[in-house]
This record gives sequence, C-alpha cells and structure tokens, in this order.
Amino acid sequence: MKRIDTILEMKKEIKKVKEQGKSIGFVPTMGFLHQGHESLIKKAKGTCDCVVVSIFVNPTQFGPGEDYEDYPRDLDRDLNICEKDGVDFVFAPSVKEMYPKGYNTFVNVEEITDILCGEKRPGHFRGVATVVTKFFNIIKPDFAFFGEKDYQQLIVIKQMVKDLNMDVNIVGCPIIREKDGLAKSSRNKYLNKEEREAATILYKALQKGKQLIGLKAYSISEIKERLEKYISSEPKAKIDYIEILNADTLEIPKSLDEKLIIALAVKIGKTRLIDNCIIGG
Ligand code: PAF
Repeated sequence: MKRIDTILEMKKEIKKVKEQGKSIGFVPTMGFLHQGHESLIKKAKGTCDCVVVSIFVNPTQFGPGEDYEDYPRDLDRDLNICEKDGVDFVFAPSVKEMYPKGYNTFVNVEEITDILCGEKRPGHFRGVATVVTKFFNIIKPDFAFFGEKDYQQLIVIKQMVKDLNMDVNIVGCPIIREKDGLAKSSRNKYLNKEEREAATILYKALQKGKQLIGLKAYSISEIKERLEKYISSEPKAKIDYIEILNADTLEIPKSLDEKLIIALAVKIGKTRLIDNCIIGG
C-alpha cells in the first residue's frame, strides 16, 4: 500500500495503473474509518483491480459552528486499517493541497439539495459535490463507492455524475449497524455512555415507521407525527427532521406503495446523527 499526499503524485500513479489496463475503485472518506467504510473497501476490492481510498476532512462541506475542528482524526489508525484491508493507495492530501490560495470554483447540484440535510446544513452539498468532483478528476475511478447512510449524498452524487457526464459508476452500499441498531458513523465517537444508549432511538424509530407504513392504516403525515412523538419521548433527543419521501426522487410520495425512504436527523446532546431505511419498491 502506498500513501500519497500530493495531487501530482496521485495523478502519476493513476496514469501507471491506467496504462496497465486496470480498473480503479474509489472510496472517498473523511477518515476515522469504521466497519461501514471497510464494507465499501471490500466492495471496491471485489469490483475493481486497484482500490484508492481518500482520507480528507473536507472543510468546504462544514458550515460555521459545525464540527470541522472537532471531527475525529487518526491517520495512523486509518492507514493500518487500509493496509489490512488490501487498499492499494491512500490519498491523504492537506487542505492547502486541495484548496490552495485563490481557489474559487464550486459545484452546485440544485433542487434535491434544498431539502433534508441540504436545507438544514446550507452549503454542505456544495462542498461535498466540489470535493468529490476534484477527487474524480484526480483519481479517474471506474467505480466509486458511497454508503447509504448518507442517502441524500448518494442521490446528489448520482445526479451530478449524470448531469455533468462523468465517466464513473456510482455504487451505493448498505448501512452497517452496531448490534443494537445504531448506524456506524465516525460521529458516534462524540457520544458519552448515556447518549450512546439514547442514540438507539433513531433505529427504533425507523423500525416503528416501517411497521406503521406496512399497516397501511395511517397517512404519511400521521406516521410522521407518531414518529415525532416517539423520538421526543427520549429526553436527550432533539429532532432536526423526520421525512418520508420517494426513495428514488426524494419527492413527496403520492402513495404508500411507492419505494419509500424514512430519513431522520436527530441531535443526541450536541451530536447530530442521521439514519434512514428504505421500504418497498
Ligand atoms: O461521506 C463522506 O465521508 C464525505 O461527505 C465525502 C464523500 C468523503 C466527501 O468529503
């Protein structure tokens, strides 16, 4: 495994890999890797000849007052995990390398970024789309792997790739959960013991939502209301949003028979967690 810090060197290595006719699988991450990331790496290894993982806490996708400074970082630990998992290249550039003085270009995916996390975190997806575009230009992957926990991100990236005619296949990979259902996330590190326990409310609410949808006895707004009440019964939980949408378009569904997503963002103490589940389709 080779660790690379500069864009120039990464491009040189990619050129060599391409000359050998090998396919490239790319796993973009912000580091502090967990089993969710490892499942993406595994999928990439099973799909492509050469696997590149980026580790970069991207400042442009954090809003003012968000957790950019506090975001957990441990590059040595991440490098060990990547090595163990058979990654070929880890690309870990500095902020200066990615956004040098005078940097002035951003990618903005419209409309689908006006809801959910896009609405609650203005500018977030502009930062994500920009950094992912830069990575795609540097790494030129045949396949790129994204977790379904960040479901809106996956949809935004798919839209961007389609609209901008990018030559990369986007692969969504299932959410990996702890034994008690909590979705794996680098941000789980922020939770103290009591908050960690309280955080299971997200998964429990999704299960409840799934069950209520299955009953076909309630309207979407009734289900949302019930879930709101349920989550609010946990004193440490503060709802950011609860939405039930069409899972493909993220539009308001006309019927409960569509492929649906229940998407949640809930603050447990100071930690904002997201989770979702897909139903039907
Ligand atoms: O999902 C993430 O970790 C980040 O949003 C990504 C895709 C690596 C871009 O910084």
